Amino acid sequence: MKNKRIFVTGGAGFIGSHLVEKLVELENEVVVVDNLLRGNKIPSDVFKKIEFHNADVRDSSKILKLSRGADVILHFAAILGVDIVADNPVETMDTEAVGMQNIAQAAIKNNIPKILYASTSGVYGHNALEKSVTEDIMIDPKTSYAMAKRYNEIYLGALHEEKGINAIALRFFNVYGLRQDNRMVTPRFFEQAISNKPITVFGNGNQTRDFTYIDDTVKATIELGEKVNGFEIFNVANEEEIAIGTLANKIKEISNSSSEIVYINAPTKRYDYEVGRRFGSSEKLFKNIGYKPSTGIDEGLNVIYKDMLKSKSIEEA
Ligand SMILES: NC(=O)c1ccc[n+]([C@@H]2O[C@H](COP(=O)([O-])OP(=O)(O)OC[C@H]3O[C@@H](n4cnc5c(N)ncnc54)[C@H](O)[C@@H]3O)[C@@H](O)[C@H]2O)c1
Repeated sequence: MKNKRIFVTGGAGFIGSHLVEKLVELENEVVVVDNLLRGNKIPSDVFKKIEFHNADVRDSSKILKLSRGADVILHFAAILGVDIVADNPVETMDTEAVGMQNIAQAAIKNNIPKILYASTSGVYGHNALEKSVTEDIMIDPKTSYAMAKRYNEIYLGALHEEKGINAIALRFFNVYGLRQDNRMVTPRFFEQAISNKPITVFGNGNQTRDFTYIDDTVKATIELGEKVNGFEIFNVANEEEIAIGTLANKIKEISNSSSEIVYINAPTKRYDYEVGRRFGSSEKLFKNIGYKPSTGIDEGLNVIYKDMLKSKSIEEA
């Protein structure tokens, strides 16, 4: 995507801010809508180059007005984080459902031909068992968040069928990287390790996930925006199965930390989120756009650690 006008919802968030940064670098005009629920993660030099609106995706008239003239919509605004979603299921679903309705209406009324939507590997629910999951296995969302994401994927399929709008849903697998906050496991473990406090792992630590580095996530999103039309769903996975206990050990080691790793029972409200195994196949992405993830977990964690040290030394100076 180059020299386009791109409307990004959730652009001040973790993934959104990295996308916005790259889109600006590629000389796009970027319009961001975000209600700053999680603060603003867009670097200040990038922020100066975009059009930013503090607005809610549930505000239909604002979405309609602010998206006028866009060539593409990247719909990334959402409520996420296991504890936050568990405590706010209704608002989570409302943000997804009403947000998507407004995005769809804006695309129809403003003749915007393409939507890219941030879905989740959570739609696979507990089915992601013995093998890496492909897009066609049976899905079984268990949480309000994952159900709403699946609902929106179906909605996008209908939107394409009825109105011809190109609609691409990206099922992200545990994205991690710079500027992520401690709602997610990687920054939480790093914070604990760097302060030499106990690193707390829920359960026995054998549960697995697939951690996708932010730069790979951004690359896949932008290339899908350029190269794929129709209605499609893609996994964006790193294809590397990592046990959470192993992640804790890696972070402890990288940080030269004296933290103890402690295994505790997950709070009851997290039970629906406790999937034993989940890792994905990005084969469909490779077949369609030649994409392969390029940052392994060790490399990604090292980048984060170096950045944390840099920020720490700046703070202390
Ligand atoms: N981070 C991951 O591992 C991951 C995995 C799967 C899917 N996703 C999806 O990717 C997208 C981005 O996730 P992220 O990690 O950057 O999360 P994030 O919380 O950092 O970013 C989401 C952004 O949406 C904004 N937002 C929330 N409600 C809004 C509303 N009603 N109106 C306007 N803005 C609103 C927030 O302020 C925030 O800036 C989300 O749709 C998420 O569901 C992320």
